[in-house]
Amino acid sequence: MSLFRKKDLEGMLAQAQGDGKGLKRTLGAGNLIALGIGAIIGAGLFVRTAAAAGQAAGPGVTISFIIAAVGCAFAGLCYAEFAAMIPIAGSAYAYSYVTMGELIAWIIGWALIMEYALGAATVSIAWSEYLNKLLGGSIPYEWSHSPFESFTDSAGIAHQGIINAPALIILLALTLLLIKGTQESAFVNAIIVFVKVAIVILFIAIGWQFIKPENHTPYFIPEGTKPVTDSAGKVLFSYDGFFKHGWGGILGGAAIVFFAFIGFDAVSTAAQEAKNPKRDMPIGILGSLVVCTILYILFGHVLTGVANWSEFVDPEKGREASVAYAISQYMTGYGWLATAVTVAILAGFSSVILVMLMGQSRIFYTMSNDGLIPKAFGELHPKYKTPYKANWILFVFVGLFAAFVPGHVAGDLTSFGTLFAFVLVSLGVWILRRKSPKMERPFKTPLVPLVPILGAVICLGMIVAIDSRTLQFAFLWMIIGLVVYFGYSRKRSKLHSPGEILPKATDFQ
Ligand code: ALA
Repeated sequence: MSLFRKKDLEGMLAQAQGDGKGLKRTLGAGNLIALGIGAIIGAGLFVRTAAAAGQAAGPGVTISFIIAAVGCAFAGLCYAEFAAMIPIAGSAYAYSYVTMGELIAWIIGWALIMEYALGAATVSIAWSEYLNKLLGGSIPYEWSHSPFESFTDSAGIAHQGIINAPALIILLALTLLLIKGTQESAFVNAIIVFVKVAIVILFIAIGWQFIKPENHTPYFIPEGTKPVTDSAGKVLFSYDGFFKHGWGGILGGAAIVFFAFIGFDAVSTAAQEAKNPKRDMPIGILGSLVVCTILYILFGHVLTGVANWSEFVDPEKGREASVAYAISQYMTGYGWLATAVTVAILAGFSSVILVMLMGQSRIFYTMSNDGLIPKAFGELHPKYKTPYKANWILFVFVGLFAAFVPGHVAGDLTSFGTLFAFVLVSLGVWILRRKSPKMERPFKTPLVPLVPILGAVICLGMIVAIDSRTLQFAFLWMIIGLVVYFGYSRKRSKLHSPGEILPKATDFQ
């Protein structure tokens, strides 16, 4: 019994199309681009752009976006080749099952839980914060924070978090929507995407007139910039260190805004629901990446032109709700836009959560069909044809994190899981090209092996830059995964049971 036993690609494709009992193929190229943009534009753009500008890159955050986009584009090209060639649910997990075998597939599937499930938890926590802002802070601290968070207000009263209830409520609403159906979810997602893209474009177009060229000079944070202190002189933030100023700061900024690109790969999880995956998968993945990159660069240019980057680290100025701050402070007469932006942020966060939950449930669905996790994850709703049990189990799992864990912990793990998957997908393309050069590839990654190698190296570099505590936790998570694999999944794998050999393509002719 090999740890590296592989699934047979022909059999998998036949199984995915064969019996008519699977997921429905309802999504076109436009839906897929919307799905990608739905997952991509969120907290990364609306929160981390200002953080990257203020803490590392200054107005040069536009270049940080370009660097992060190049890293993602390499990985995106590799995803596109796989998604067109292996159009079944499961994304990177499914690709590695064919190319690198069961153990690696399991490891990647386990890492993807960090990307999608914890990604959904992170953004639902951010959603809860912004809802509170929109409601003028009227949700009690205790009911909107995890038990690991506390704070003392200006009256000296100490508050201790109990549960993050708004985060749970948005998760519940979106879980119900997902159970109702992919097409319904895609429709709601398309409306949200329209709203958030419209607001981003509006901000760029209106804000352009308020750009002050002096805010863009110098373009990088100069060496020797004084630290940020509070009124008592305590240092809140220092610009010492390679990744905090100059070109190094541009790289540091790229690591911060990387989060803004997470999600383009979510398109590939819906491959089994695409009407014409061979053509539409590459369009969906690369199209959403291109659209978002252009919007991000313009957005960063306007934001750092309207307000000075130094204000985005100042707690008394624009450190929180930075976009709304820049509008209300400098764009006279456009106060309504600040409220519209907050609403768009809430909508934007909702669609990110929606696509992340959908992606995770599809990965569970595929892993369950492979026998690696219990059958319940793969059962489809008799009427809606969605993996409803997986959706409910996921709600409980994500809900536990959203309700009881602080956002930054879940957020860092999300980046790790994503980068790890990018590395393995990039290497997988190269491996399969060497092993099965003749296999039909409707979309081909250009310049193999250069593009996959660059993709893997850039993503590995970003993993190394993640803080060591997050890496320790991620390591622990992966060990738990191995215990589950050797204790449960290995014996139950369909590749293990002699009676359950996967069907061959010819069985369906
Ligand atoms: N890219 C997604 C966001 O920025 C995860 O919220």
